[in-house]
Amino acid sequence: MIPLHASEPAAHDAERMVGFRSALLAAPLMLVFCNENKAENKASAPSASAPASAAPSAPAPASAAKDIARVRCAMCHGESGQGNGPSAATLNPKPRDWTNKEWQKSTSDADIRSVIVGGGGSVGKSLLMPPNPDLKDKPAVVDELVKIVRGYGGK
Ligand code: HEC
Repeated sequence: MIPLHASEPAAHDAERMVGFRSALLAAPLMLVFCNENKAENKASAPSASAPASAAPSAPAPASAAKDIARVRCAMCHGESGQGNGPSAATLNPKPRDWTNKEWQKSTSDADIRSVIVGGGGSVGKSLLMPPNPDLKDKPAVVDELVKIVRGYGGK
């Protein structure tokens, strides 16, 4: 008796096991996903215009650009983009105030790209705006930096 019927329940057991295992696998993934959504919601709460595409996995160029802006640019241009970073005091001319709407209107994305990679000298501006030659072959990162600079002009 036992050997005859044994195969059927065994198959059911195997099926159940598979279902159980995929549920186990899915659970942590869903947790991660939900947590990221929560973080994203918190981050974008103040401005409804924040692009949803920034999550769940921020593209590498965007986060690279954010780091560069904080580490390299902010010391002159300031956290607030107004050209008042800790290294700005002794500079003449002053670092550009990115929040200046007139300036934002007067310049092109191409010029900003050129300034970032080639420095102020590349567009006839001050050499105190340093070049970033390592970004020459990272156009996606430069584009994100342009977006960051442009982002200060909206207010
Ligand atoms: C050592 C200080 C310093 C650092 C670091 C610096 N800048 Fe500048 N930046 C300047 C100065 C000074 C000017 C003004 C040049 C002028 O008006 O001739 C300027 C101007 C600019 C301009 C405006 C150019 C124009 O058309 O008037 C942009 C855009 C800019 N910087 C972007 C950046 C970005 C992005 C970074 C970081 C990758 C950065 N800067 C890092 C000093 C700095």
